[in-house]
Formats: sequence, structure tokens, C-alpha cells
Amino acid sequence: MAIWGHTADGTAVPIYTLSDGEIEVRVTAFGAHLVSVKAPDRAGKMADVALGYDKLDTYLIKPNPYIGAIVGRYGNRIAHGKFTLDGKTYQIPLNDGQNALHGGPKGFDQYVWQSREVPGGVEFTLVSPDGDMGFPGTLTAIVRYTLQGKTLRIDYTATTDKPTVLNLTNHAYFNLHGDDQGDILDQKIEINADRYTPVDATLIPTGELAPVAATPMDFRKPETIGARINDANEQLKRAGGYDFNWVLNGERGTMHQAAIVSDPVSGRTLTVETTEPGIQFYSGNFLDGSFTGRHGVKYTKHKGLCLETQHYPDSPNHPKFPSTELKPGQTMHSTTTFTFGVTK
Ligand code: GLA
Repeated sequence: MAIWGHTADGTAVPIYTLSDGEIEVRVTAFGAHLVSVKAPDRAGKMADVALGYDKLDTYLIKPNPYIGAIVGRYGNRIAHGKFTLDGKTYQIPLNDGQNALHGGPKGFDQYVWQSREVPGGVEFTLVSPDGDMGFPGTLTAIVRYTLQGKTLRIDYTATTDKPTVLNLTNHAYFNLHGDDQGDILDQKIEINADRYTPVDATLIPTGELAPVAATPMDFRKPETIGARINDANEQLKRAGGYDFNWVLNGERGTMHQAAIVSDPVSGRTLTVETTEPGIQFYSGNFLDGSFTGRHGVKYTKHKGLCLETQHYPDSPNHPKFPSTELKPGQTMHSTTTFTFGVTK
């Protein structure tokens, strides 16, 4: 552990380095961000495959494209920032046009979490008070990063003292070429999903679980990300690329394969497994060059891709979607693993 810097109010912010074998990961208590992941290519050459900033100061600038953040209390969108729970309506401040995104304007990405070292990693804890960003109930969220061999594991746990809703995920942007080498359009992705949740013009799910078959959302076999991204498809046009939730095949609550990204150039692969029912595959469409990452690299469109394992967006307003409610006495548990490999 080292102190990486201080927030505006003088709070010291720890940063931790996890290493096992060749993989090295850094995480910070500010927003429980994943700051960097160093992984070898097929020749053993190391590169940082997660976008990130050199200095804490850049993470403090808001709004920020959530580079590596833990997003909460509700990752992804809630339509009009509004939902009803046990007959009472709650309003989350809007920060994405007419919707609330990633927990509202001051989400979990903007707090210094408590931290402690655990075997193989770090555990971060945040207590979000009753009424925080309009959400009911005091929520205690625990995010544990551990590294074993080539696998970075993130365990999420949460409890509440009043019924609430939550959707915690990690918003890392990966680029298997290395964070200073080109964009993600020539990399391939496979997503273990027969269906996805189509969206309206404001990226809120319509409620339909639509087949991916015969659409550019079909990644049941590995496909190059850029191959169909500019197709004349209304969904792609709305999002400016990929920014959708796929309905994962596999039993919810048990570990199942979500996605595999592979880079034909470096040979690096990234395999994502999760207990979550969905994954948001976002192709970095809104990155506009206004943030500069490590090595002085401007984060422009498609510089990195996000694989946000999660419950479906706007679930509190879709009773047919898997529930995001948490009640007092219950514990929410969820696990996602990211495995960094190579192919010949
Ligand atoms: C998520 C959303 C995107 C975008 C990014 C942050 O991935 O789905 O639409 O808001 O977060 O820029």
C-alpha cells in the first residue's frame, strides 16, 4: 500500500499493487477504481491492457468517463431517474439527459472507500447513507479485488437497512493491444448470449429480450468488433456503436462464461465469467479525446471497451427483468472474473 494522493478535503487515498506471476494489477481506494492491469503478449512483452490515469488528480475531475470505476449504487441507466418501491416513488438526480446514469451525479466512483489488505488482494467498503442520491436505505457495499495467477476476481457484497435497489459493476476499459496502441475495432469478441435488451432513443431498454440472430449484436461466434459497428442498424446508430446489455446464457447466480475478447495482433485474450445475468458491452463511443491517459494518450472514440457484468439497465422499472431489489436481512453476492491469457 502507498498513499497515492489526497482529495480536495485532504483525505489520503491509498493505492495497492497486486501481483501474481506475470500479471500486475493496481487498484485505488478512490472510487475503488481498477487503475492498471499489466499482462504479457504471446512473446512475453508486457503492456497495460486497462486504460487509466497516471495521477489521482485526473480521477478527481468530474464528470469523468468512469475509467476503471466501481459504479453504484445503480450502475447503468434508470429512466427519468425514477422508480417505485413498496408503493413509494424515489427520484435520483438526472445526469444523462432525462435519465440517471451510474447512480446519479455523485456515484460510488467519487468516494474514498475504506480499504484493507486481504489474502491475494484488497477489500474496499463504502457505507452509502439512507437517501444518498435519492436511494432508500443505508447500503453497505464491499468490493474485493483478488488476483490469482492470470485471473483478477471481483467479489461484490451488499446489505441494507431498508428495501432498496442496486446494481454494482466495474467500468474498466480494456484494450488488449496495450493502452497506448490504437483502438479496439480490430479485436474480436464473443458474447455468450442469444438475446439482448434493445433500447429506445435515450438508451433505456424497451423491455423486450430480442434475439441477437441476424443482427450485428450476434457475437455467439467470435467476430471483429469493427466489422458491423457502422451497419445501418437503428440500435447501433442510437448508441454510436455498441452500448447494450446482453442477456447471458447460463444459470444466474452461478459462474458462467460472459465474453471472450481476443487480439489477433498481440495474441492477448481476456475471458470474463460472472454470476450476473447480463453484460453491458460498450465500445467507448462517448470517449471524445477530452481526457488524456497514461503515456500522454488521448482517450478518443473506441480507445477501449467495457464489459460491465450487471443486472439489466432500468430493472427497477421492468418487473419482468431479474430483480435488483435488496431487503434488510438479505446479502447480495456477486462475482466476476477477468482472466488474461494468450493464444499462439
Ligand atoms: C456506460 C454506459 C454508456 C456510457 C458509459 C460512460 O457504459 O452504458 O452509455 O455512459 O457508461 O461514458
